[in-house]
Amino acid sequence: MPARDNELTAWDRDHFFHPSTHMAAHARGETPNRIVTGGEGVYIVDRDGRRSLDAFAGLYCVNVGYGRQEIADAIAAQARALAYYHAYAGHGSEASIRLAKMIVDRAPAGMSRVFFGLSGSDANETNIKLVWYYNNVLGRPQKKKIISRWRGYHGSGLMTGSLTGLELFHKAFDLPLSPVLHTEAPYFFRRADRSLDEAGFAQFCADQLDALIQREGPDTVAAFIGEPVLGTGGIVPPPAGYWEKIQAVLKKHDVLLIADEVVTGFGRLGSMFGAQHYAMAPDLITIAKGLTSAYAPLSGVIVSDKVWRVLEQGSDALGAIGHGWTYSSHPICAAAGVANLELVDQLGLVENARSVGAYFRDSLAQALADHPLVGEVRGEGLLAAVELVADKADRVFFDPALKVGPRLSAAMLERGVIARAMPHGDILGFAPPLCLTRAEADLIIDATAKAVASVAAELKSA
Ligand SMILES: Cc1ncc(COP(=O)(O)O)c(C=O)c1O
Repeated sequence: MPARDNELTAWDRDHFFHPSTHMAAHARGETPNRIVTGGEGVYIVDRDGRRSLDAFAGLYCVNVGYGRQEIADAIAAQARALAYYHAYAGHGSEASIRLAKMIVDRAPAGMSRVFFGLSGSDANETNIKLVWYYNNVLGRPQKKKIISRWRGYHGSGLMTGSLTGLELFHKAFDLPLSPVLHTEAPYFFRRADRSLDEAGFAQFCADQLDALIQREGPDTVAAFIGEPVLGTGGIVPPPAGYWEKIQAVLKKHDVLLIADEVVTGFGRLGSMFGAQHYAMAPDLITIAKGLTSAYAPLSGVIVSDKVWRVLEQGSDALGAIGHGWTYSSHPICAAAGVANLELVDQLGLVENARSVGAYFRDSLAQALADHPLVGEVRGEGLLAAVELVADKADRVFFDPALKVGPRLSAAMLERGVIARAMPHGDILGFAPPLCLTRAEADLIIDATAKAVASVAAELKSA
């Protein structure tokens, strides 16, 4: 069905500055626009009546699925009772206090307090400020550098865009800023030395980190930030033993660990947090997306006891902390968070992510593993990726100009399924709502097999 073309389309092209969009092509009308009007379960619909199975849950965030009335009702009730009051100087709403308690109850051991923000990016900005404040309070003002990984994704602000290890987010923005350093991505499939097995590659990554810290001087390095599973950088679970080895290096040099759980928090991996899944003991945890399933914008930093004690010492010495946003712990967003986490429990979505996730990934691998262009099918819980290569035996990647990833995602959409072409590689990403059923998983797998076959045929004929 051709998309409707009318006033709204024209206003979209003329006035709406879309994030992560080719601005000129969109303004010229060369790229499609899609005006989404509704959603139910794992499906969205647009104003042209097209219905798509959203196998990426928006931007891996609508974890409970679309159209949940319980959350809509909680938002409406909060808006009627108290739409807003700030949280400065000891104020708060019942919803924000209740939500902080619910988060700490679900978090890994040793976590103490939650600071609320609005986005994953601002929560990571908060993390870096807290790390710097922490070291200043401890009398080590030179210990300020932050290490991130190539292919890590931590947001697109000035500091967080610097932490993000993807060139697209640096180019022409004068990033990364100087306190940020990048180290090896834990991407086994793309390792340079193919003689390494998983354990050997995990050790290599830890050795690279160790060498970087030694080179910079351990007394200048404050923190290491990482997603338990690389997300936007390619949906890549770490090689076996990675986090254990990385944490040993951090401990040796007294470097804090920030676990960015914006994607993995609240069940995506089939565990409540990625930190629990991989036996990580973070000092700070970033949360967003699954906290409200994106029914309202809310993020947070979960602060460990260890860091909290120093922050308290800081305010005794320096006064009230000079950090906060007008909308920190916005009551409407907090009410959405409470209703969302209750629903995650009631529907058993963490367990569903584990069991349906295993079914989905196994079946996807079975359907695709023998295809000559499928280099790897990987994932954890309800997070999965299919990586295409030009030559499987020699692991030769496609020329980016061929845009194989975007073509594959377009071929999926033609078959009624949304899967994301991840940046930097021909990687099709899946992060469906955690309420996905096996029957819906089968629909995604069927569409993927057909889309891969059609793109392979196109490439062959070209
Ligand atoms: C791991 C991770 N951290 C941080 C962010 C940034 O979140 P936001 O887009 O809400 O600023 C994202 C967004 O996708 C993310 O995946």
